[in-house]
Amino acid sequence: MKLSRFLLLIAVLIAALAVAACGGAAPAAPKEEAAPQEEAAAEAPAEKTYEDLVVGYAQIGAESEWRTANTASIKEEAEKLGVELKFSDAQQKQENQIKAIRSFIAQQVDVIGVSPVVETGWETVFQEAKDAGIPVILVDRRADVPEELYVTYLGSDFVEEGRKAGDVMMDLLPEGGNVVELVGTVGSAPANDRAKGFREAVEGESGIEIIASQSGDFTRAKGKEVMEAFLKTHGEDIDALYAHNDDMAIGAIQAIEEYGLKPGEDILIVSIDAVRGAFEAMIAGKLNCTVECNPLLGPQFYDLALKVVNGETVDKWVPSEESVYFPEQAEALLPERKY
Ligand code: AHR
Repeated sequence: MKLSRFLLLIAVLIAALAVAACGGAAPAAPKEEAAPQEEAAAEAPAEKTYEDLVVGYAQIGAESEWRTANTASIKEEAEKLGVELKFSDAQQKQENQIKAIRSFIAQQVDVIGVSPVVETGWETVFQEAKDAGIPVILVDRRADVPEELYVTYLGSDFVEEGRKAGDVMMDLLPEGGNVVELVGTVGSAPANDRAKGFREAVEGESGIEIIASQSGDFTRAKGKEVMEAFLKTHGEDIDALYAHNDDMAIGAIQAIEEYGLKPGEDILIVSIDAVRGAFEAMIAGKLNCTVECNPLLGPQFYDLALKVVNGETVDKWVPSEESVYFPEQAEALLPERKY
């Protein structure tokens, strides 16, 4: 062998050894493939159950019989299902509800439920929840925010409740008459919508005129106080009262009696909620009608919360079913009333 060919052969051998040392020459061993079921189990997070669920609930307060029943439903159902509930009572203040939501975000709850005391001013805090990946469910009251900031609204059609009250008022006052209105919390969804629905029903040829309208903040004490002021100004010119909830109507009944008139006769009364106190007032002949607004939302709320955390699609609005009740039915129905 010539020297040049011998050197070439040596060079080729050295190069081959260098490549082998770097591992480049050996073919990579084939990866062991996972069975399709194993792969799916490794990727999909386990489905949550009620016992795994941690829920933060920002309640408004305890302004009415309705709210008390609503809170009891949310708490009792959590207990029954084994859901861990972090409950906050905002004592009627939006700023407290916002603080509660921020604290739920910091605690990394799975879902936040909130009943917004007023409609506006929620965008920033709902966006914070969204950024933290925590779904928000509106319960009982809507908030004026873009739809992508909450997953669903569970609650009533307040405009329809107002319309139903207006229809009943027209039956009670076929010739028309002077109505005073006790409005709910200023800026709240039920106050805005119940006012709207009632006006939609009575406007036109009904002859019904709303001669005074003022907030009684959904409480008995304020309802009484505002009715006293209405009576002072309008006295016997008042034919009927439309109250946005039963508590204000019950407060107003006291004011009317103290003024020396008969509630339910001299002044006809239609209100909303259908709490037990309203049934008792109807049995006593002091209230002419109550339109139902269902507070027992606990079971539906947790059902939705679980679906949402498990990635199921839910409707953007889950409405509650509601009736209208009159004095003739009150005695028979009172024992069955759950709130
Ligand atoms: O949002 C529901 C309303 O809030 C009820 O009609 C009223 O009683 C409550 O306080």
